[in-house]
Amino acid sequence: MSDTYDLVIIGGGPGGYNCAIRAGQLGLKVACVETRKTLGGTCLNVGCIPSKALLHATELYEAAEKDFENLGIDASVKLNLPNMMASKDKTVDQLTKGIEYLFKKNKVDHIKGFGKIIDAGTVDVDGKKLKAKNIVIATGSEVATLPGIEIDEDRIVSSTGALELDKVPGKMVVIGGGVIGLELGSVWRRLGAEVTVVEFLDHILPGMDAEVQKTGKRILKKQGMKFHTGHKVTGVEKLKSKLKVTMEPSKGGDTTTFDADVVLVSIGRRAYTDGLGLEAVGVTTDKRGVIETNHFKTNVPGIWAVGDCIKGPMLAHKAEEDGVAVAELIAGKAGHVNYDTVPGVVYTKPEMAAVGQTEQELKDAGIPYKSGKFIFMANSRAKANHETDGFVKILAHAETDEILGAHMIGPMVGEMIQEMCVAMEFKAAAEDIARICHAHPTLSEAVRQAAMGVNGWTMQS
Ligand code: FAD
Ligand code: NAI
Repeated sequence: MSDTYDLVIIGGGPGGYNCAIRAGQLGLKVACVETRKTLGGTCLNVGCIPSKALLHATELYEAAEKDFENLGIDASVKLNLPNMMASKDKTVDQLTKGIEYLFKKNKVDHIKGFGKIIDAGTVDVDGKKLKAKNIVIATGSEVATLPGIEIDEDRIVSSTGALELDKVPGKMVVIGGGVIGLELGSVWRRLGAEVTVVEFLDHILPGMDAEVQKTGKRILKKQGMKFHTGHKVTGVEKLKSKLKVTMEPSKGGDTTTFDADVVLVSIGRRAYTDGLGLEAVGVTTDKRGVIETNHFKTNVPGIWAVGDCIKGPMLAHKAEEDGVAVAELIAGKAGHVNYDTVPGVVYTKPEMAAVGQTEQELKDAGIPYKSGKFIFMANSRAKANHETDGFVKILAHAETDEILGAHMIGPMVGEMIQEMCVAMEFKAAAEDIARICHAHPTLSEAVRQAAMGVNGWTMQS
């Protein structure tokens, strides 16, 4: 006998599990199909969570090694990599189990297996048929590969392998100076690896504000990370004990070779819809395999899609917003996502964070803007903490003063960006932020000062 659901979700990552839980809360009969052993998708299992666990642990390790002395703390530190990995795995385990608990609490059926869409009302899970009034595709993304460079997750790794290395590589080459490359490159550099980043473009972190890109590169370089921007890796040869990496300028030119113990391929991710049966049911994708949607609806009535497999930033919180919105739409409510206020955070030290438009985007769109900037060097909490690198920059409309973007690099800016998201969601003016009392001494005073700077009345400079 087949089960009939209001909603069957394929994929148990942030897009899928948030959709499932919200749908359960709204009283829908819902099932979530997941092929992985545990729920939580890329984010909880091999993405956001394990990477942040290692970033946190290695940040403390490096601080103990290099910064404690400046604070009058004498400490001797020794790395215990197996225990560091075990601690990360424990966090992942707790969080994935937490989703199982939330499923039970919200009466979501967790169906283990591989989902394939048979028609707009049926999902096959390893032979078992689930009947569904609605199907939500939340199958996420997978690592993009480079032709001729085969990932073995041992010496040539994707982010997944880079989260599991059993010893610190002597030399690590990172292909791609994006978010994964810089975060996981930082992890292994802090533990002692010589890390070289090869980036195709002339700058790191495409999409970020140019000033943040430049400052970020300068600070990471000062920390010991090496960069070859404007270069591409053309081959990685596996020798007995080493890897021979060949690179050339992106525009062509002489090749250079150098050796490495581990190569991390982090050149982006692509939508994952393999084996889903999209062609057979007629769901259209663009030429890069991204499912085409209109307010989360695919071209086939009753089939929806969310998260990394549709357009937009490949971020867990964006997938989560998509998932919740679809559950609400299916339940007859007004589900909506404001993509203009989705923040992005790079969890290096210092962190980098952004929301809204960059200066370049405003210039390209011909939008008149004014800018306020405040450096952490002049922030008393940052001074007290010995973490003075970076700045907060706020961009506002030249005439209306409405905040159009915020770009930050500095301590804890991944938390501080949220104030700007709230402000932008409420269409605040820079002056609104400038007139809000911020506690002293806090790092968030830098946000207020930058907002004051938009209209030329920064107190400290
Ligand atoms: P996914 O999380 O990829 O989940 C999709 C799930 O669907 C998977 O579990 C998969 O097994 C399952 N699946 C696929 N096909 C089928 C099928 N046919 N049947 C059954 N199950 C199927 N984002 C952030 O916002 N912050 C971060 O700090 C961050 N760090 C990251 C670090 C790394 C190393 C990586 C790789 C990614 C990181 N991301 C981060 C991105 C984030 O993980 C993704 O944006 C997010 O997981 C997307 O959620 P999703 O639900 O769309 O897809
Ligand atoms: P990315 O898109 O952030 O960066 C890839 C980089 O590789 C780009 O700078 C690109 O120019 C470069 N590149 C592409 N081809 C190249 C080549 N042949 N040679 C050299 N460089 C090349 O992708 P990344 O870092 O793999 O991350 C994938 C996704 O995961 C991102 O979309 C990101 O949003 C998400 N993610 C988010 C995190 C966060 O929010 N903190 C952390 C990690 C991942």
